[in-house]
Amino acid sequence: MIQFNNVSKTYNSDVKAVENVSLDVDDGEFVILIGPSGCGKTTLLRMVNQLEDITEGEIILNRNSVQELNKIEMRRKIGYVIQSNGLFPNMTIEKNVMIVPDLLGWDRKKQRKRFNYLMELIGLHPDEFRKRYPHELSGGQQQRIGVARALAADPPVMLMDEPFGALDPIIRNRLQEEFLQIQKEVKKTILFVSHDIDEAVKMGDKIALLRDGQIMQYDRPAEILNHPENAFVSEFVGYDRVLKSTSLYSVKDLYNVVGLDSSDESSNIKTVKAETSLRIILSMLLNQEADQLVVEDEQGNRIGSLTLNHVEKFLQAEVRESSGGVTLQHE
Ligand SMILES: Nc1ncnc2c1ncn2[C@@H]1O[C@H](COP(=O)(O)OP(=O)(O)O)[C@@H](O)[C@H]1O
Ligand SMILES: [Mg+2]
Repeated sequence: MIQFNNVSKTYNSDVKAVENVSLDVDDGEFVILIGPSGCGKTTLLRMVNQLEDITEGEIILNRNSVQELNKIEMRRKIGYVIQSNGLFPNMTIEKNVMIVPDLLGWDRKKQRKRFNYLMELIGLHPDEFRKRYPHELSGGQQQRIGVARALAADPPVMLMDEPFGALDPIIRNRLQEEFLQIQKEVKKTILFVSHDIDEAVKMGDKIALLRDGQIMQYDRPAEILNHPENAFVSEFVGYDRVLKSTSLYSVKDLYNVVGLDSSDESSNIKTVKAETSLRIILSMLLNQEADQLVVEDEQGNRIGSLTLNHVEKFLQAEVRESSGGVTLQHE
């Protein structure tokens, strides 16, 4: 786990970049750092892998204070994606991606296999790119190579600084999905900087919203959206926050709270699955595709029906429900 204990960072003895930040990232947790430009996100990441000194407080990585860890060794165990991809211009793409495995002494065959796998993962053809140099790639392709490089040696911890920032929406969406899929399987501990609240809501187990070096709220996405702790948070997430929250819930979440009506037996009615996102449901109902949707379980059995009224009741209940109170730090 990564634990920030009252961490502050002052540059040049006067710029307070980070102020008294305390937060815990559990093993296997995907935590998003978000906030306006200059609020200290990059600085927080850079202190974890000792690219910046900590002015006050400490950061604990798996029970060790990071300052006591060997810099070189620790960085091999931490995948780091920087904002401006940071590829070495004089190395081929394959060499760039395989830097850490190479340092770890992997043999050629294992490296090649891993390279091919990672390139498929990020959607670039291995043989087409293997021998190219970074300047022969587009900005978005370079950024994807940066992600592949960070994943190369399968590190347990990933620090990712706006890794999908320069990508066009389709590729970005695809990498987000891929990344969530990878995360389901391998459960890395991830600190991920984003400036996009939609990305944060979609990707994060928790979101830490920062302002001027301080944490404004650290919570699960649903809590941030439904129970912003102050005006800054509520403005940052947007006045459409209730609509945004619909992508976090499924039909199943809805009927667990407000139930369903008994289903109509008429045959020409639209059916949806229990796992369908509430966002899709809301959209279908508002599109007037149907006034009523029949819900089916995995076996295709009709288990009830819902209308716009159910959605409204459910969202209101979520907003009303008192916050579970994820604390900034559990000691
Ligand atoms: N090397 C540095 N020297 C002096 N000030 C810095 C340095 N790096 C960042 N800062 C300042 O620290 C603050 C936080 O910066 P940063 O962590 O890069 O924010 P973010 O990543 O959220 O945009 C900003 O005011 C920035 O100007
Ligand atoms: Mg930054």
